[in-house]
Amino acid sequence: MRKKIVAGNWKMNMDYEQGLSLFSEVVNMAHDEVTGKQHIVVCSPFIHLHSLVQLAKGNIKVSVGAQNAHQAESGAYTGETSAKMIHSTGAEYVILGHSERRQYFGETNELLAKKTDTALANGLKPIFCIGETLQERETNVHFDVIKTQLEEGVFHLSEEQFGQVVLAYEPVWAIGTGVTATSAQAQEIHVFIRKEIAKKYGQELADSTTILYGGSCNAKNAGDLFGQPDIDGGLIGGASLKSRDFIDIAKTFN
Ligand code: 13P
Repeated sequence: MRKKIVAGNWKMNMDYEQGLSLFSEVVNMAHDEVTGKQHIVVCSPFIHLHSLVQLAKGNIKVSVGAQNAHQAESGAYTGETSAKMIHSTGAEYVILGHSERRQYFGETNELLAKKTDTALANGLKPIFCIGETLQERETNVHFDVIKTQLEEGVFHLSEEQFGQVVLAYEPVWAIGTGVTATSAQAQEIHVFIRKEIAKKYGQELADSTTILYGGSCNAKNAGDLFGQPDIDGGLIGGASLKSRDFIDIAKTFN
């Protein structure tokens, strides 16, 4: 059985107190209401990481992650945060390749390959995001785009390294728009991704890779999406900022 994960991406939201309060609610609700084997990951801004890890202590259902990490080990990169620093807070995951970072910060597949290496070398599990823009879907190049993102971003990894990676399919046109991919559209891409993994690493590793869907996922549509055989959970933006909504999404797997 593949690991089922519901991950929240707070993006650049929540001041310090708000973040602690939201996370405390998530931990308590997860303890009381999440009864399945699904795992919850909260990816917060850097400022919260250490405190969230402390709050999650003793709760095996909830982990903490960051939303970015620098590709270098350390050094003169004013304002940046290294994978090693993130790991030292006790955080376990890091989102890499989010479309907002690709779009607003010019992150390329080549750069993301380096970030992935550095994250893994420092004990973090990457949640590696891929997905096409609306224009790419409309011009029917979405499969090629996703294939290239995989090949250039993560397919240089060894089998052992790749086994640490969680993938997230996030169609850019569905992020923050209220327009979600239909469960059939998402399933189609997840099958495609799994086939590409199988071609590169073999069926066994493909079958054990967790592939999340992200993009306007909410408590109403999560059941339909997560009910698809190749969708192993979600990467949740807006709805992860409300504990009730986020936990209701996670409870889809109860
Ligand atoms: P929304 O759930 O707000 O559409 O955001 C999805 C996302 O980008 C998660 O990384």
